[in-house]
Amino acid sequence: MTILAIAGSPAERSRSTALLNFAVQRLDLAGFPIQRLGLRDLPAEDLVTGNYMGAAAKQLREVVDSADAVLVASPIYKASFSGGLKTVLDLLDERALAGKLVLPIATGGSTAHLLALEYGFKPVLSALGARHILAGVYATDKQVRLIDDGVDIDDDVRHRLETSVDLIADHLSRTLHRPRLQTYDVGRIALDGRLSL
Ligand SMILES: Cc1cc2nc3c(=O)[nH]c(=O)nc-3n(C[C@H](O)[C@H](O)[C@H](O)COP(=O)(O)O)c2cc1C
Repeated sequence: MTILAIAGSPAERSRSTALLNFAVQRLDLAGFPIQRLGLRDLPAEDLVTGNYMGAAAKQLREVVDSADAVLVASPIYKASFSGGLKTVLDLLDERALAGKLVLPIATGGSTAHLLALEYGFKPVLSALGARHILAGVYATDKQVRLIDDGVDIDDDVRHRLETSVDLIADHLSRTLHRPRLQTYDVGRIALDGRLSL
């Protein structure tokens, strides 16, 4: 049983990945096994050419297949999720997300494209078989501030992430008999996923 976290931003210092890391840390601390995957983990040529038969795509499909829940984060680019993330999703099987709990996370420059979660992100996740898609968490750049070696996340955003993560943890605990989530006060999180309590 694993939880897969997919980071769909090409940026090295990424707000959406920071939110993903925040969510992952909470699940990690609660004892859930996590696998992480970022755009940079896959060969760019395989992504650009849609190399479905390649070794990287095969491995990607195995990792996704083994996950019970998938957290997927993306920046909003031109009113939708990133093209880079789409190239990853393009390498999956048609029903790759069937039976999995899915949490979409996105950050955007403003609230103008808040609904991209609904009209852009979720239809693609649904087309991949996902039927249990949580409401999703959207935050603006003002709410997720990059600082020297980390990121400051507004309390409201933290709360929404925690609520979503706790739903995932409760669901997995019930269905897979895992220990229930303990509450941790997560402090500042570095961009590489380290956190201070
Ligand atoms: C090429 C590009 C296109 C963007 N398009 C939008 C957009 O259409 N709507 C929006 O709200 N923000 C847009 N943004 C801003 C990003 O979504 C925002 O800065 C986001 O937090 C970046 O996430 P990241 O740090 O994880 O890459 C765009 C940024 C870039 C670089």
